[in-house]
Amino acid sequence: MEPTDIVINKSAAIPTYYQIMRQLQDMIQRGVLVADEAIPSERDFCAALNISRNTVRQAISKLVSDGLLYKKKGIGIFVSQQKAKMNQPLSRLPSFTEYVLSQGMAPVSKVIELGLVTPPLEVSKALECESYENVISLHRLRLAEGLPMAVEKSYLDSVLCQKVLYADFNHDSLYDTLRNKCGLQLTHCHESIELGFCDVETSRHLDIPTGTPVFHRTRTTYTKTGAIEYVISQYRVDRFKFHLEVSL
Ligand code: GLP
Repeated sequence: MEPTDIVINKSAAIPTYYQIMRQLQDMIQRGVLVADEAIPSERDFCAALNISRNTVRQAISKLVSDGLLYKKKGIGIFVSQQKAKMNQPLSRLPSFTEYVLSQGMAPVSKVIELGLVTPPLEVSKALECESYENVISLHRLRLAEGLPMAVEKSYLDSVLCQKVLYADFNHDSLYDTLRNKCGLQLTHCHESIELGFCDVETSRHLDIPTGTPVFHRTRTTYTKTGAIEYVISQYRVDRFKFHLEVSL
């Protein structure tokens, strides 16, 4: 590749390092850049794009820490062997833990918040509860192989799911807890996915700039007797894709 294959818009609200990073990432994911191919040096990028060394370094360091590029000391920067994007089928909607394990990766969660809250209107409607009834709120960052994948905020019925308040979700799966500790049988869910843009807090957790497009997902999970969980999540678009297979 030539350094001028990268196009920078200096008047855009998106930081320059991020524009470079995303374009390189895109070229790697589309196979334009292949494994072990060298990319231009930091100096060549700086000269061709008229930007500072720090800006290029920031973009490249991020891709190195994400495992998309690797450096050979004194020789150059190369494209790593690529792991596939997480490719989740929509015909079955397993838990995050089940899905990541099925891809041969290690799921990890970091609890951001767990407690009782009064439900926002969207939540009380989905859970069919009164707006003054407390619900459990579980807010987590979800990672696979140490990389941030999604932020999920689950709202749960505070009576039937009471034991959720005492679980350790840095290690436990929510669906396992609902099944094994709360004795609930999850039967089905409704899910919707649309385009969203991440806010300041989410961008900090997902390690992407504020305003970056994300998959905004909402899911209502049911037992035979009604809705038990309503989840609002933001998934990184560069690490996930969804596919649907239906018979005609
Ligand atoms: C997925 C779903 C969420 C659900 C979660 C449970 O990520 N999008 O709606 O709450 O799985 O995951 P786990 O059982 O791993 O905690």
